[in-house]
Amino acid sequence: LLSAIDGRDAAIITDDEVRHLHAEPLAARLSQHGVNTTLTSFPPGEANKSWRTAAALLDWLASSRFRRRDVVIAVGGGVVTDTAGWIAASYMRGVPYVNVPTTLLAQVDAALGGKVAIDHPSAKNLIGAFYQPKAVISNVAYLRTLGLRQIRSGLAEAVKKGVIASPELFTLIEEGHADILDGSPRILEELVWTASVVKCELVGRDPYEEDLHRHLNFGHTVGHALETATGYGELLHGEAVALGMAVASLIAETRGLLAAHARERIVGLLRRVGLPTCLDELAVQTWPADVLAALGQIRKIRDGNLRFVLPLKIGKAVVVDDVTDAEIRSALLATAPTSSNRWR
Ligand SMILES: NC(=O)c1ccc[n+]([C@@H]2O[C@H](COP(=O)([O-])OP(=O)(O)OC[C@H]3O[C@@H](n4cnc5c(N)ncnc54)[C@H](O)[C@@H]3O)[C@@H](O)[C@H]2O)c1
Ligand SMILES: [Zn+2]
Repeated sequence: LLSAIDGRDAAIITDDEVRHLHAEPLAARLSQHGVNTTLTSFPPGEANKSWRTAAALLDWLASSRFRRRDVVIAVGGGVVTDTAGWIAASYMRGVPYVNVPTTLLAQVDAALGGKVAIDHPSAKNLIGAFYQPKAVISNVAYLRTLGLRQIRSGLAEAVKKGVIASPELFTLIEEGHADILDGSPRILEELVWTASVVKCELVGRDPYEEDLHRHLNFGHTVGHALETATGYGELLHGEAVALGMAVASLIAETRGLLAAHARERIVGLLRRVGLPTCLDELAVQTWPADVLAALGQIRKIRDGNLRFVLPLKIGKAVVVDDVTDAEIRSALLATAPTSSNRWR
């Protein structure tokens, strides 16, 4: 981190929860090393990835002694790295920033790739930019204070990358999931590193998302619809994506694109990790009709096209735009419910 700061002043942006846990101790360490450090925080949660937060952060920078050559440091989960990244992209037409992600989801996904954004009441991530951080520094020791449900949610995004691009990453999670959930630093480091490499390779091929056929959206078509249908509240992003991956895998198998044993491996791993793979297991009661209605809205915004990433095998996927509502409904219903709802 010191070499990324390289003698400049540092403006740390974090949320109120991470502030006391990790950001203030980090600021103190930086000060001990002679770095001029200022720090601000905003209330945690997706609801605060907002214009209101962004305006307050811009006011804070404008009233500080922050210069164009200084560096913004985002310390927190994806909400913080997305928001602080957008502030860095906008302030003075762009100032350098470094991500120090503190959730597993941010370490394996959100902090990498340069997609930064805040939400607008009409849509998630509506106001944003492509703006790369100078460095991403993931310390798995930060994950010790993170709850198991958040760890599982982050794992969903790592499983996703294994399915679309890396059998090695998939096997790593398959063989190491118990140690990962136990918080073993060695396996967490291997997981974060491997997932980061896979994400950087995928983003490096298309940094500005010119190709609409993005495999990184595996699980996200139904996942986003679930988040919309449940009102961005109780459901964690990774939980919605996990069920989305289960649905897409079943559609792929039914179409004869994915072997039954490969689908069983995908769904089996999600289950073992403790992620929901059927509507019955979600933290919020949801009906297929609500999901289809939300998908209908997404279809409208996308000019009638609903893109689905369907796995062909572990490590390979394809994008199709002809999945019908009937296929989605029967896949949603067929993801066999289990008797217990572990989220309640
Ligand atoms: N830019 C991208 O490419 C990309 C990719 C995936 C997700 N995202 C975005 O990421 C966001 C979700 O990120 P998230 O899941 O990290 O959620 P988050 O940032 O809301 O963090 C989850 C909760 O954990 C707390 N927390 C963070 N670190 C902690 C720690 N070490 N110990 C204890 N508590 C801690 C936070 O205060 C928060 O309450 C969404 O807004 C999503 O859109 C962006
Ligand atoms: Zn995601």
